[in-house]
Amino acid sequence: MKSKKEILGQYFTKVEIVHNLLNLFLSYKKCEKNIKILEPALGTGNFIKILREKKFSNVDGCEIDADLAPEPSDFFEMPTTQKYDLVIGNPPFSKYNLEESYFNIKEHLSFSPPTSTYLTKNEAGKNKEKIENIFLLKGLQHLKDSTSSIAFILPISFFIKNKNKSVKNELLKNFSTIIIYQDDKVWFDKNIPCCFAIFTNLEKLKNKIVLIYENGKKNEEVFEIEKIHEELIPQVVFHKNNGHINNAKGVPLSEFFKTKKVKIKKSYKENNVSAKNILEKSTIPENKTTENYKIAIVRVGNSSVGKCGLINEHEDVLNDMFYVFDLKDQYTKNKAIKENICNQINANPDYFKKITCRVGSKSIKKEDILNFKVIV
Ligand SMILES: C[S@@+](CC[C@H](N)C(=O)[O-])C[C@H]1O[C@@H](n2cnc3c(N)ncnc32)[C@H](O)[C@@H]1O
Repeated sequence: MKSKKEILGQYFTKVEIVHNLLNLFLSYKKCEKNIKILEPALGTGNFIKILREKKFSNVDGCEIDADLAPEPSDFFEMPTTQKYDLVIGNPPFSKYNLEESYFNIKEHLSFSPPTSTYLTKNEAGKNKEKIENIFLLKGLQHLKDSTSSIAFILPISFFIKNKNKSVKNELLKNFSTIIIYQDDKVWFDKNIPCCFAIFTNLEKLKNKIVLIYENGKKNEEVFEIEKIHEELIPQVVFHKNNGHINNAKGVPLSEFFKTKKVKIKKSYKENNVSAKNILEKSTIPENKTTENYKIAIVRVGNSSVGKCGLINEHEDVLNDMFYVFDLKDQYTKNKAIKENICNQINANPDYFKKITCRVGSKSIKKEDILNFKVIV
């Protein structure tokens, strides 16, 4: 049975996490204690509790579930004439395999206020949309003026390159500063990959996106606001900058690999090479022609991503889990270089795992491989 918890996204933010997130928000945005605040999905009320502890007295909230709120209320029925200085909290997230967790656009057509007052053209044309996106869009309608902010916990997938473009564009119409925060702690009773995103207007960070990844130390990276549709995942950016790319010695694989696609036989059913046995193929047999050997790297799968082997372009059949690269002409007959590259990739499985921290199955991009540095 699909549980109410899953459908309504009832994952409550731990009190110590709420403390940390509120302190972060307040370190950027100085607020009077009497500002008007809305928590649109209050759950067990942890955000409201800590806000009140911090002496913010003007806090409203919505919670749809009568088991959690004595007077349940649906955020999508709240009149947009109610305006706030801050809309803050942890809205429900839709689960891709759970239809009921989405915002059903047709079902809301008869609602007041009408969906047309907050949906963009793009969302209005769909049957359903991720509920966290609709919380953001409606949240925008509750802002008092340009000094107002939205601060939401969002699934980290929100900031994957080119995802949720229309919502991001709408946010940019209101805000010129975005702060995206992640740390290495578990924020709910389950580990859900998420971040805390602050959308606001700060003179000293005008047209900037600040990415913060905290792992005992606060690591910060600042981007121009034009990068909004790029991949803005603090943990990934941190690992790219501090892991095997920027700090590592060596030469990127783009110096060795051709970018042209390699034609290779692939079959889902009849393959002799898969992620299971690719590590057995790290050498070129003595009796074989080195030129025929290409480098295959597993591109998906939580445990296998980044595994590498040398495959024979005439004899081997792969499944669909690989990127295959040929070496540039000057290296194609060089058995030692091919085996060396393969071994160095396999010696660093963490590199590929850490730069693919996303929701669902991990998958890497070709550029992640081409940026990997080797010492040859
Ligand atoms: C992820 S929980 C977060 C609760 C709280 N903000 C926290 O961080 O602990 C989301 C809450 O939103 C509620 N909810 C879902 N849809 C809603 C709606 N349309 N209006 C108001 N609350 C809703 C759920 O019942 C759930 O308690």
